[in-house]
Amino acid sequence: MKKVLVTGGLGYIGAHTVVELINHGYDPIIIDDLSNTSENVLNGIQSITGIDIKFYKENVCDPIALDKIFKENPIDSVIHFAAFKAVGESVQEPLKYYSNNIGGLVNLLQVMQNNGVKNIVFSSSCTVYGEPDISPVNELSPIKKANSPYGNTKQIGEEILSDCKFVNTVALRYFNPIGAHSSAKIGELPLGVPNNLVPFITQTAAGIREKITVFGDDYNTKDGTCVRDYIHVSDLAIAHVKSLDYLSLHPELQFEVFNIGTGNGLTVLEIIKAFEKVNNIQLNYSIGPRRPGDVEKVWADASKAQNILGWTAQHNLNEMVKSAWEWQKQLSV
Ligand code: WQD
Repeated sequence: MKKVLVTGGLGYIGAHTVVELINHGYDPIIIDDLSNTSENVLNGIQSITGIDIKFYKENVCDPIALDKIFKENPIDSVIHFAAFKAVGESVQEPLKYYSNNIGGLVNLLQVMQNNGVKNIVFSSSCTVYGEPDISPVNELSPIKKANSPYGNTKQIGEEILSDCKFVNTVALRYFNPIGAHSSAKIGELPLGVPNNLVPFITQTAAGIREKITVFGDDYNTKDGTCVRDYIHVSDLAIAHVKSLDYLSLHPELQFEVFNIGTGNGLTVLEIIKAFEKVNNIQLNYSIGPRRPGDVEKVWADASKAQNILGWTAQHNLNEMVKSAWEWQKQLSV
């Protein structure tokens, strides 16, 4: 089985991807510094898959530790998740984001080059589009000035990978991943106060948070709240497996980007109402000021991933918000 190094593999998207890698016959090796997750996630993955997975508690910014992992394992390819990812937080702490997200990628690429590993799937983001003039955005839509340092680190990351001719890169521009594995054994596990909408919703529903603040209802959208393309995290995970398959069939590939979204734009209030309806829960929320760094509306044209990777999103909104709640409920037990 092909060994795949998954950096940030105990994170939210990383853990779901490790499960799908195993389901599809890959042999994942995880590196994670546990800065934004917990080692318990490994138990969840192993409980779902029945497989013991090699895990290194290391930081991708540490060249010696990273090189040792490559020397100890015949790694065929890398999926690079390890990065900070909160748009709002990056506005408050830009250096933390540039140092970790860019420094980590550069270090990883140096070690890959030194060890002759060529294939990488890069965790990029729809935030590279900034505030798009129109949605849906496709992969040829203009890359505009990012609205946040987080989005800028993803733009710079893509440019670095495109310039590094010694690697073959698939960059996946994620839209908004939400939900949890159907087993409710892994899911989103933000440390501290959640930055993202859906974990804030589930923690409010669980009584951990007093209420949700909707960041602005004066946008030019159907109900005044921001529009995003929410995608089930398991669908996103499978897009990474499809990308590895694609890379192994196309060794000539140098750099290719794909939007990974559903193609549907939903407002914050639509997410809140769907959660209330599907889970039969009344949520406490109020309207507050806009959050710096937010774009008004963005959703995907994901036809390139369908045509080339043979990937489309399979889960609907009800499955997304129900699985998110099932995961939160089992956290509280
Ligand atoms: C969504 C909407 C907020 C919290 C995420 C990831 C980022 C990238 C893109 C992958 C916005 C509103 C939120 C709250 C709110 N994905 N909101 N109250 O900012 O789109 O970014 O998707 O790379 O990594 O973080 O997601 O969930 O923070 O916000 O009203 O308490 O919900 O204003 O409109 P965002 P988010």
